Amino acid sequence: MRKIILGLAVSLVTAGSGHAKSVWDGVYTEDQASRGATAYQQNCGRCHGPNLGGTFEIPPLVGRFVPYWSGSTLDVLVDYITHAMPLGRTGSLSPATNADITAFILKSNGFPAGAKELSAQSADQKAITFDATKKKRSKAH
Ligand code: HEC
Repeated sequence: MRKIILGLAVSLVTAGSGHAKSVWDGVYTEDQASRGATAYQQNCGRCHGPNLGGTFEIPPLVGRFVPYWSGSTLDVLVDYITHAMPLGRTGSLSPATNADITAFILKSNGFPAGAKELSAQSADQKAITFDATKKKRSKAH
């Protein structure tokens, strides 16, 4: 029994520090987010608002948006954008543009930029968890 518990603890620790990434780990670049901002204003801003705030009928892409999507992986959000948006012209944007727009949405919600662009590949996006709150490893200050 004791061995099983120890093994479980070890695998939990390695899962936390290993390849599993989250949106807090700098999963897009500033350049990508600014490309995404342009594409967003051209294709999404008309409905979701220039500041992503939404309207009475159209959901915001900031604020309550984050807890709503939290707990999934990033491919789920990109998939939704790819297949359900832009409403009226669904599927009209390239995978690269959808990744750029997702980068802009992440930036708009306060998730940090990093050194590597968000991949347009669904399998890579699946390796990134969308967590509303940063998992605490140690105190920041
Ligand atoms: C013509 C208006 C329109 C355009 C353009 C549009 N959307 Fe939407 N979007 C909507 C509506 C309406 C919903 C709610 C759909 C529903 O609940 O089924 C929505 C829902 C969403 C959601 C889900 C939000 C949530 O938390 O439920 C996301 C993400 C999203 N849109 C992203 C985008 C992106 C990115 C673009 C541009 C590529 C875009 N939308 C363009 C109208 C639009």
